[in-house]
Amino acid sequence: MEKIVIVDFGGQYTHLIARRIREIGVYSEICDPEDLLIKKDTVGVIFSGGPQSVNDKDLLTTGTNIKKIRVPILGICYGHHLIAKLMGGTVEAGISREFGNTGLHVKALRSFLFSATKTEQQVWMSHGDSVTALPDDFLVTASTAATKIAAYQHKTKKIFGVQFHPEVEHSVYGKTILENFVSVCTEKRNWNVQSYYNSIADELKAAARGKKLYLFISGGVDSLVAFALAAKVLGGENIEALHIDTGFMRLNESEEVMEYLRSLGFQNLKLINAAEVFVSAVKGIVDPEEKRKIIGKIFVDIIRGQLHGLNKKNKNWMLIQGTIYPDTIESGGTKSSGTIKTHHNRVKEIRDLMEQGRVIEPLKELYKDEVRAIGTFLKLPEHLVWRRPFPGPGLAVRLLCSNQTTYAIEKSELVKVKKIAASFSLHANILSVKSVGVQGDYRTYKHPVVLWRDAGKKFNWKEISRCAAEIINSVESVNRVVVSAEPLGAMPKLHKSHIIHRRIELLQQVDDIVQKLTGDIKEIWQLPVVSLPLFDNDGNECFVLRPICSTDAMTADVYEMDLKLLKKIIKQIKALPGTGNIFYDVTTKPPGTIEWE
Ligand code: XMP
Repeated sequence: MEKIVIVDFGGQYTHLIARRIREIGVYSEICDPEDLLIKKDTVGVIFSGGPQSVNDKDLLTTGTNIKKIRVPILGICYGHHLIAKLMGGTVEAGISREFGNTGLHVKALRSFLFSATKTEQQVWMSHGDSVTALPDDFLVTASTAATKIAAYQHKTKKIFGVQFHPEVEHSVYGKTILENFVSVCTEKRNWNVQSYYNSIADELKAAARGKKLYLFISGGVDSLVAFALAAKVLGGENIEALHIDTGFMRLNESEEVMEYLRSLGFQNLKLINAAEVFVSAVKGIVDPEEKRKIIGKIFVDIIRGQLHGLNKKNKNWMLIQGTIYPDTIESGGTKSSGTIKTHHNRVKEIRDLMEQGRVIEPLKELYKDEVRAIGTFLKLPEHLVWRRPFPGPGLAVRLLCSNQTTYAIEKSELVKVKKIAASFSLHANILSVKSVGVQGDYRTYKHPVVLWRDAGKKFNWKEISRCAAEIINSVESVNRVVVSAEPLGAMPKLHKSHIIHRRIELLQQVDDIVQKLTGDIKEIWQLPVVSLPLFDNDGNECFVLRPICSTDAMTADVYEMDLKLLKKIIKQIKALPGTGNIFYDVTTKPPGTIEWE
């Protein structure tokens, strides 16, 4: 199948570029700079943005010499600088810096890239370096007030560069510009999920025919679709689905998973109750990555244990996993993408099995919405296809733990936070916990700020989100903002806390209330409920609600909940003994991640 290759220089929008190209109808793939190879089916190449400068001592460039690339090339941001530099132009730092919405003036009709767009248009910029002199045989196709060479093209070859980000929705004609580039590469528009289904089905048949297949089903849509797909292609009788109850599932979830699989007509099912093993293994563990590693290892130990017995009877088995594209990339799948989190289906033991050729991942090239489209194509019921994602390590990464009772928070930081909040007529404080975030393509581990207003004053989502963005952009030690629906009297205190049964059970009950009361809200893509190691004066535990809107978990917006519903949820949670303050997370991704750990 024809494809456009996106070279990942570590930019935070690389996935967006890949998705946009697929939306246009051409298959796209992300690769490391050094791995770039132009194969027969490569019809175009896009160089992504990235945090480096082309003037850095070690120039980050492609494995294939750019002058030898015979298919069309589009450089975006860092890619735009790189092409200019490699072809003999000049790139300089600090000449013009533009961040956010910027007016672009197109030198009319000069470039095919801008056809069917307007002479004056808004684009999304994020750069400190700029191209200041073009290589020979290139011409400027667009400028901004600050950047003379905001876009260029080669006079005769199909080489283009844009300083701005056409993949970001804020670039008003971004999609048209990408469509124009795709049209330069190919006339075909044959990528869609159904045609892809046929190619996965063929691959599955070739890899797994005659083998006994095992699949660990988590309850989430990815493993369910992988299971239904493999059952359709290879026959349900050849596949056994095993579900492990880790003790970190939602309330009654394991029973429900078995129930819905049965209702779909699947018979080869096994429920493994391993709650005690998992819960005792993470006792005393505070570090989120360590939790993930321990849980990942137990998963694999159980998988091994199951397969070992079978191995004696029949060596001819394979494991199917529901891994999807972002899982592989976020675990450091391309070298320029920092390891934000290690997904449990990429731990060492699984990698070993992969090397032995024992793992099939039929969905590994798909994004979540494409997996859902395959689910719909397979006629799975809508409520299962649209299930909210739930992470493999489950509630374990939603129970924040602590070995300490204080954090040294700089006074000047607190003063800054309070000053910004006051300018929005809000109160604020810094919470004594830390959570994971992602800023400038790197993982962060910083404090959340809590905001609240005076009793009886109106609650305004827009104002709160502006305040949250300003705090995170200007206060170094903060990466997340939550609001307290009620005025905060005393600040909740950090206690030494670990994973214990009582905390798990309380989180399950709180989570159950939240999911039941919000289950039919389609705009909420995922809704983590997080238990904090913070306790109010009466020793009650604090919780965070994190409803987000997203399409693929790579970026997320805050869901602005109806205040009556929020009140109802909080009232029901507070009726449970042991619950203290309830916070509502108002951080987009980036800079926050969806999960707190
Ligand atoms: P973040 O928190 O990185 O989450 O914004 C992105 C998506 O990934 C899910 N997630 C995980 N899924 N194992 C999983 O299977 C994990 O360790 C893990 N960590 C995060 C998260 O729920 C969200 O949908």
